[in-house]
Amino acid sequence: MTDPQQHIDRLHELSAAAREQIANAASLDELKAVEAGSIGKKGELTLLKKQLGSLDPDDRKAVGQAVNEAKSAIEAAIAARRATLEVEARRAQLEAERLDLTEHPARRRRGHLHITTASRDRLEDVFVGMGYTVAEGPEVETDWYNFEALNIPPSHPARGMWDTLYVDLGEPESTLLRTHTSPVQIRVMQAAKPPIYMIMPGRAYRRDTADATHTPVFHQIEGLVVDRGISFADLAGTLEAFTAAFFGPGIHSRLRPSYFPFTEPSAEYDISTAEGGWLELGGCGMVHPNVFRAVGIDPEEWTGFAFGFGIDRMAKTFHGLADLRDLFTNDVRLLEQF
Ligand code: PHE
Repeated sequence: MTDPQQHIDRLHELSAAAREQIANAASLDELKAVEAGSIGKKGELTLLKKQLGSLDPDDRKAVGQAVNEAKSAIEAAIAARRATLEVEARRAQLEAERLDLTEHPARRRRGHLHITTASRDRLEDVFVGMGYTVAEGPEVETDWYNFEALNIPPSHPARGMWDTLYVDLGEPESTLLRTHTSPVQIRVMQAAKPPIYMIMPGRAYRRDTADATHTPVFHQIEGLVVDRGISFADLAGTLEAFTAAFFGPGIHSRLRPSYFPFTEPSAEYDISTAEGGWLELGGCGMVHPNVFRAVGIDPEEWTGFAFGFGIDRMAKTFHGLADLRDLFTNDVRLLEQF
């Protein structure tokens, strides 16, 4: 007959040794090996358990209890260690899979904004510096915003000034791609009370065949001032100040009489070129009283001016490009030069 105390002592030793191995297991695989060697099918604890049968029935109970206690203690230690090792393993995996996104100085080649966007940003900066705020409006418009409210009634001959692209929505020719940014003037005046000092940049569309100076999609920046006592001299002075700020102090502006249904009087805005000539960049004029009436502003109390410039043309001029289409083909060999 074996001494039950011998079994119990051996169990205590076994449990202590197993728990030490568990604590020292450096990986989940090592932990598995310790588990198999202690409480696994062929582990020592399992062998001891099998010997219970050879014990005196009275001793069997005490030793059996010790076996169960040792087993629970080892299992608990394994579970705790496994949790720790799993966290570590996950962390190691994440570390191994981490992408190094540090820019290497020798590799650093940052891109930049497209020159049309950069020009638009600079235009905004100049006007914001003069106290203007920026507004935007939809590119798909109704006939009313794009034409009627701008004093261009249906069948007005001036509609021929804009080769309109209509959208197949609602009544025929009731919905269109805006042919200019001027409809945003209307939206601004509907939403805000004067005094108004705003610019409205955005995309516009015309049924034009692309050539060196035309593209069917282009960018405009609209300006609108509505206040008491605004005169044509304010318009001319504002545009001259803008010209110097945007193109440089040596460049001047000129206004030539023109016609737009929504301004009266109207003018073309030209800037002087380095070659001694003039370059047309957009239209402008004093807001027509009918436009004020369309949005419920009293033309007896308020006056104002408006202008609309082509941003692409400005970018082309500013950067000395030969062809407007180059702004839309996105050839990086060209864009990289700026
Ligand atoms: N909307 C005009 C155009 O695109 C330009 C313009 C704007 C003229 C504001 C006068 C006043 O042709």
